[in-house]
Amino acid sequence: MAKVTASNRIERLLEMNRAAELGGGEQRLERQKADGKRTARERVALLLDKDTFEEIDKFVTHRCRDFGMQEQQYPGDGVISGYGRIDGRLVYVFAQDFTVFGGSLSETNARKICKIMDLAMKAGAPVIGLNDSGGARIQEGVVSLAGYADIFLRNTLASGVIPQISAIMGPCAGGAVYSPAITDFIAMVDKTSYMFVTGPDVIKTVTHEEVTKEQLGGAMTHNSTSGVAHFLSHNDEECLLLIRELFSFLPSNNLEEAPRRASSDPWDRVDESLNGIVPAESNIPYDIKDIIHAVVDENYFFEVQEHYAKNIVIGFARLDGRSVGIVANQPAYLAGCLDIAASIKAARFVRFCDAFNIPLITFEDVPGFLPGTNQEFGAIIKHGAKLLYAFAEATVPKVTVITRKAYGGAYCVMASKHIRTDVNFAYPTAEIAVMGPEGAVNIIYKRELSNAEDVERTRAEKVEEFREKFANPYIAAEHGFIDEVIEPRYTRRKLIAALRMLDTKRDSNPPKKHGNIPL
Ligand code: HXC
Repeated sequence: MAKVTASNRIERLLEMNRAAELGGGEQRLERQKADGKRTARERVALLLDKDTFEEIDKFVTHRCRDFGMQEQQYPGDGVISGYGRIDGRLVYVFAQDFTVFGGSLSETNARKICKIMDLAMKAGAPVIGLNDSGGARIQEGVVSLAGYADIFLRNTLASGVIPQISAIMGPCAGGAVYSPAITDFIAMVDKTSYMFVTGPDVIKTVTHEEVTKEQLGGAMTHNSTSGVAHFLSHNDEECLLLIRELFSFLPSNNLEEAPRRASSDPWDRVDESLNGIVPAESNIPYDIKDIIHAVVDENYFFEVQEHYAKNIVIGFARLDGRSVGIVANQPAYLAGCLDIAASIKAARFVRFCDAFNIPLITFEDVPGFLPGTNQEFGAIIKHGAKLLYAFAEATVPKVTVITRKAYGGAYCVMASKHIRTDVNFAYPTAEIAVMGPEGAVNIIYKRELSNAEDVERTRAEKVEEFREKFANPYIAAEHGFIDEVIEPRYTRRKLIAALRMLDTKRDSNPPKKHGNIPL
């Protein structure tokens, strides 16, 4: 018998490491690459700073003894987990390895994920999940389902404590979708990823609809139609770089602030172009992103959910080197009105920023809520209330700039003074009223108009009179609902001065178990 020596013990370890690093074997790794996907290990390496990955549970194997599974053991069992650094900051990561049983979730594989989630909660650092899986490990039955539920519980408890980010880089189907769905952000890779609760075959049997996987749950579908995803990338590298950048705007946990980044952009930079962006005619559209870009540090805006509910724009930027969340009505799309999708999109973003100490900057140009039976039957009352609730409960520094229209209920909802916004600015082009002049005149002069000799001329006169009197920022300013009417070119310095003033802001909500946001 060969003598056991220190060096052959080390050789054994190295051999085991090599086996674990081979995942499901050369052939399956080649197939993964042929499918246009990076391997799980490559993904982790691309996500993290060079050589910072520390792997945990590399030799864990499954315990299934049915269906000949005992003969098929792969160290690591189809998920790579551990911790590392992004820009020097600690993050926890798991990456499902499709080459091992299709990345399916076993009991032990779930335990690995739960282990790093528990560590992340103790250390106060984010969890990033790279999903590429055929779902529950079919051979394991209910213990696999139990593993999912263990993860869902942790996702829920971690929500609002540490940022949770999901990348979908392959299949993610059935109940498996609910872990990413609870996390804060979902990035999908175009053409190689899909998410659905029930796939095309089941749909065909039950509803007789014919739909492809891509149409049903591809990256563009969830970025533009369902709003489930927040980002669309064209390949694995782009997706992982995007997550690195997203994290640069976020704190590591709810007790910290996002890192500040030194900016060479002068805090009091005046941008003359701003004075000419909002058209004098209130029905002419303009792109709110022109204002956002002109105002923020280095003109750089990191948009979230770019392809969904384009009538509201959300995303991160920096002002004075400090991370801020931006919410802005988009007059260039549906006149910037609030509908169900826009309300839900913005509400979740506002709550994310509030949970993670990221100040909120709101640019407002909103004609009101979108009318129509579709909206009313779809419960715009309830969904619009989400945005109102989110802004009202937020205790982070809040600053609003009304660029043009601020009408009706939408005025109240869009971070108005009345729901605890700290500083409210308006441009001279602002129109703050219960409704637009045309609508208002039709109601309050109804009798006069029906008796008028020249209806159109009377209406035009009344509209002008109303516009002159109410469609401006000065009545709101008289009441102190607007703190200052500003020249647009000074927006940046006004916002930064307000944020500096609010640096030590403290506010809180009454003690409660949790509120009851209209879901
Ligand atoms: C065990 C699985 C698996 C699974 C795939 N594999 N899914 N093993 N459990 N769920 C294995 C395959 O046997 C195969 O093994 C390898 O992974 C690759 O699978 P392929 O089918 O060859 O790959 P592909 O053609 O790319 O198809 C991928 C796929 C398909 C679309 C994901 O594998 C598939 O439909 N899988 C089943 C999906 C599913 O129904 N899962 C359960 C959903 S219910 P070899 O040895 O050949 O490499 C669910 C409930 C979660 O997840 C509930 C949470 C509450």
